[in-house]
Amino acid sequence: MNQVQSRVAPLNKWPMISRVFHWISALLLLVTWALMFLYDNTDDSLYIGLHKAFGISLLFWMLARVISRLFVKAPPSAPMPKWQDIIAKLTHFALYALLIAMPIAGLLMSVYGGRAVDVFGLFEIQVFVTPDRGLARTFNDWHTDIIWPLILAFTAAHILAALYHQFIKKDKLMKRIW
Ligand code: HEM
Ligand code: HEM
Repeated sequence: MNQVQSRVAPLNKWPMISRVFHWISALLLLVTWALMFLYDNTDDSLYIGLHKAFGISLLFWMLARVISRLFVKAPPSAPMPKWQDIIAKLTHFALYALLIAMPIAGLLMSVYGGRAVDVFGLFEIQVFVTPDRGLARTFNDWHTDIIWPLILAFTAAHILAALYHQFIKKDKLMKRIW
């Protein structure tokens, strides 16, 4: 790349498809959480139904995102100490894994509880296991007491790191995903 080109293209941006996957995943996570928050505060079953439907949508979205990620060429890491790069990659990997494990735990909690899952009236995931209260309880615990706190912790670390790059390092890292 010559001097002029390197000046006009200084940013190693993520490809458009990765940026769309990133922000829609974040939005789906926010909506799924907000619906659970509404359900907790109103007890209206409409919200738990929508929580499940959006959660399943996030599962499909994340599976598509992982497939896309296998084919997309990631931009080279932004300049940073090696240990930060390793922690960033581990955090990203954890977020992928958690956002897939969370809806699966929710789905298993429902079907082991003997409840089919309706997805926006478009299709229904039948009870494909033999209902088992003990297992329903276990997946409920994973969903609410283990995976959810981990999602909160890793997302908080991820956003704090982004803010650190934006306001302290001022290295325009955020533009890579925007
Ligand atoms: C990534 C997607 C998902 C996220 C982030 C998520 C998040 C949550 C959160 C934060 C809670 C509340 C825990 C509490 O009130 O203490 C919850 C509860 C619940 N979720 Fe999800 N969820 C997701 C997907 C699903 C799916 C796909 C299903 C079912 C198909 C589901 C079914 C439920 C149920 C039934 C509860 C209530 C559990 C109870 O009241 O004991 N969730 N979820
Ligand atoms: C205000 C919210 C957010 C900001 C500012 C933000 C910022 C960023 C930035 C700048 C990158 C690119 C890092 C790089 O190129 O080195 C990135 C990647 C990533 N973000 Fe976020 N993010 C946010 C929310 C989220 C949420 C809610 C999740 C999921 C829970 C998430 C998951 C990821 C993942 C998995 C990657 C890595 C992409 C890959 O390697 O394929 N982000 N984010």
